[in-house]
Amino acid sequence: MTTPAVLILLGPPGAGKGTQARMLEEDFGFVQLSTGDLLRAAVASGSAAGMQAKAVMEAGGLVSDEIVLAILKDRMGQPDVTKGIILDGFPRTDGQAAALDELLAGAGQTVTAAISLDVDDEAMVGRIAGRFTCGGCGEGYHDDFKQPAQAGVCDKCGGTGFKRRADDNAETVRERLKAYHAQTAPLITYYDAKGVLQRIDAMGEIASIRMTLGNIVKGVSAQ
Ligand code: AP5
Repeated sequence: MTTPAVLILLGPPGAGKGTQARMLEEDFGFVQLSTGDLLRAAVASGSAAGMQAKAVMEAGGLVSDEIVLAILKDRMGQPDVTKGIILDGFPRTDGQAAALDELLAGAGQTVTAAISLDVDDEAMVGRIAGRFTCGGCGEGYHDDFKQPAQAGVCDKCGGTGFKRRADDNAETVRERLKAYHAQTAPLITYYDAKGVLQRIDAMGEIASIRMTLGNIVKGVSAQ
């Protein structure tokens, strides 16, 4: 039996984790697991965990490991994850990385690759300020870099409602960047020590990054 791939996309806010994760879903049939999306769904549902997460997310901090792990474990218990997963925005702390190792070990799995999307912080504020998504399917767009082919209509689902995130303002983005460097960037060393780290320059065009990532995925899947 082939062990399903477990891919991690590491990178600061705006690095393109969500954009590239959705493309990897299309190209390889894997499932994107975004803890940011799962937390936003919890906030929208009005659950107790969502209410606790809301203020932290709006301030640009990290939600507690306890809440994030509960939400992720629940999602990883669903049957579609057997196709292989792309973790987008998780893990973000030492504790989350250790918990992921433990969770995977229980299923006889390990991390296939942790791919760091390397970018310049300064450019990330502009990327995030211009971001919007389809309210129907979640497809991501950008005012300057990725407009729908037909203005006002989602390329993927044909929806016409678009939204912008509450935490996508310059002040909060700076806090999110601080949280990334203090708590998440050290995971680059963690995965390097495990021999599963790959780094790519993610300042280029979306299509060329997609190709580079695809080649990495083909390489690690063949091992
Ligand atoms: P989350 O939703 O994970 O946000 P993030 O990490 O801040 O990342 P973003 O979604 O902002 O950026 P991205 O890298 O996905 O970039 P995107 O592809 O959209 O987390 C939000 C909050 O939830 C956190 O702050 C925290 O509070 C909480 N949280 C989530 N997970 C957590 C966890 N594990 N533990 C604790 N708390 C957690 O691209 C951005 C824009 O740029 C788009 O418009 C896109 O079209 C454009 N773009 C993408 N690539 C390029 C390119 N190469 N060139 C030009 N434009 C590009």
